[in-house]
Amino acid sequence: SKGTYDSYMLKEIDEQPAVLRRISEYYYSSEQDKLAPQLLDDLQKADRLYIVAAGTSYHAGLVARQLFEELADIPVEVQLASEFGYHMPKLSAHPFFIFLSQSGETADSRQVLDQVRHLNYPTLTITNVINSTLAREAEYSLPLCAGPEVAVASTKAYIAQIAVQAILAQKLGLRKKIAAASELDVAQQLGLAANAIQTIVDQKDYLEQLSHDYFAQQNAAFFIGRGNGYAVAIEAALKLKEVSYVHAEGFAAGELKHGTIALIEEQTPVVAFILEQSTAAHTRSNVKEVLSRGAHTLIISKQSLAQEGDQLVVADLDERLMPLVAIVPAQLFAYYTAVERGNDVDQPRNLAKSVTVE
Ligand code: F6R
Repeated sequence: SKGTYDSYMLKEIDEQPAVLRRISEYYYSSEQDKLAPQLLDDLQKADRLYIVAAGTSYHAGLVARQLFEELADIPVEVQLASEFGYHMPKLSAHPFFIFLSQSGETADSRQVLDQVRHLNYPTLTITNVINSTLAREAEYSLPLCAGPEVAVASTKAYIAQIAVQAILAQKLGLRKKIAAASELDVAQQLGLAANAIQTIVDQKDYLEQLSHDYFAQQNAAFFIGRGNGYAVAIEAALKLKEVSYVHAEGFAAGELKHGTIALIEEQTPVVAFILEQSTAAHTRSNVKEVLSRGAHTLIISKQSLAQEGDQLVVADLDERLMPLVAIVPAQLFAYYTAVERGNDVDQPRNLAKSVTVE
């Protein structure tokens, strides 16, 4: 139930620290390893991972790519289920397929799973619904442990998907003796992320004020970032679109000047994510470019890269895991903007919780 909450969406945003703790408990502190040895064997034999998903789950896949590539030293392709099924790329010699799906019922993903099972490739579904169709039909399945997600807009399942894939990537990397895997303490990072998210959800009044000042009266908004900041930017834009109905787009910060900057007008909101050392200066110069064209800029930076004047500073994690924390203010922007505009936040127009048509 919603308990004392007005909406499931806000309740589910608030549950995120507990979700990360539950995932750690499930995957780390039980007697029996939750990752079957056979699953890790099959992953170890693969020469490439194909992560197949839709919507928010696809965005979580984009974040996971770097985790698998760096911690487990394996190339990764992240594919939209609705495209992959009909335009299958040339596959590697030993592909392994990961289906990411909160509901486990998404028709586009089911269609791809059918195809790759007929080709006899190994498959894993990572889902919040352990008895769902995708979980039953894949060779392996792993739970997200996020608890039921009722609001149509996915929030806690997104961070759960990143966390579970981080755990999987690290365990695979340890088995393959990849140095990067032994250098990262994922369990500790998830604990830090839980605390960092708590700090953000404890600033609701401020986030509500920012939502009012930046988005509530606007028709369009832009989110920019590089690397993981770009992955977060497109998820942030999707959240704002689907519940507040403000037209939003996420862009790679460096692409703005290649066309999109033409859309910047007086007071157009531009949210920039500054989450990685290597690109922070470039992204800040992109912010200056839009600022000088009248944009209303909002910077979300991580502590070690923060500068005076940044509107929101979030705690540092390993850079590969920053999306766990950086998405949360954007989830709250979507929520508060929707509430101010009088929308039904849990049941946005035209949307269903699981999309069972192709
Ligand atoms: C966005 C949202 C959708 C889903 C997409 C995939 O908030 O909820 O974009 O992420 O329909 O659904 P699942 O993960 O159930 O396969």
